Amino acid sequence: MFAIIGGSGLTQLSCLEISHRRIIRTPYGEPSGPLTFGKLKNEDIVFLARHGLGHTIPPHAINYRANLWALHSLKPCHVIAVASVGGIRADLTPGKLVIPDQIIDYTYGRNFTYFDGQEQPVTHVDFTLPYSQSTRNLLLRGAKEANEAVSDGGVYAATQGPRLETAAEINRLERDGADIVGMTGMPEATLARELGLNYAAIAVIANHAAGRGISTNGIPLKEIYAVLEHAMVKVRNILEHVVSCHGD
Ligand code: HPA
Repeated sequence: MFAIIGGSGLTQLSCLEISHRRIIRTPYGEPSGPLTFGKLKNEDIVFLARHGLGHTIPPHAINYRANLWALHSLKPCHVIAVASVGGIRADLTPGKLVIPDQIIDYTYGRNFTYFDGQEQPVTHVDFTLPYSQSTRNLLLRGAKEANEAVSDGGVYAATQGPRLETAAEINRLERDGADIVGMTGMPEATLARELGLNYAAIAVIANHAAGRGISTNGIPLKEIYAVLEHAMVKVRNILEHVVSCHGD
């Protein structure tokens, strides 16, 4: 079974033949919403809307631990996260897609680990390569077969939100080596690693990051919706090919 976590612009997977929805409770509380089960190209899929079905949960308030725990309980072969981001690198313009390979975490105050119990031995997970290479390869192959252009690799800067960044903050992120900026990539990726999940992300550029391109004097928020709607058609196409080329 594939697990897909949908972000802004992808609260539902319209290409999914839905069989049922299930509420799963976890030791960490409830996930963002019920899990939706169904089939995509004859493969079993479980879908979770990260911000809730009504898109009401802001990035800092998402129960990432419950979300990943619930998905892990279903033993998915891969977890594919879809996330909208701002583009920092000049060629990453609105509508483009990136399969990131690195992360810098600027978030704070989130529940970011399962290893914080008093009675557990201290546990450190390796996070040198934060995304699963096998899941990334599957996404790259699916994109190729779907004939959709994606950038292979990029550094994802995870910011706290819910406000967008200042232009100076984006300049700093660029000096740090970031190519894209979003608010939900962490702690999602690290929790997936702690659970041993094969997890990777498709980042959809929703806007030029603050101070860049057409966002020089402000991010045109009204335009983001149309950009995402258009880009999610490409994402769905890729997902269909990813699940059908899996196992070949
Ligand atoms: N910054 C942070 N998160 C985002 C952005 C952005 O510009 N666009 C979409 N998610």
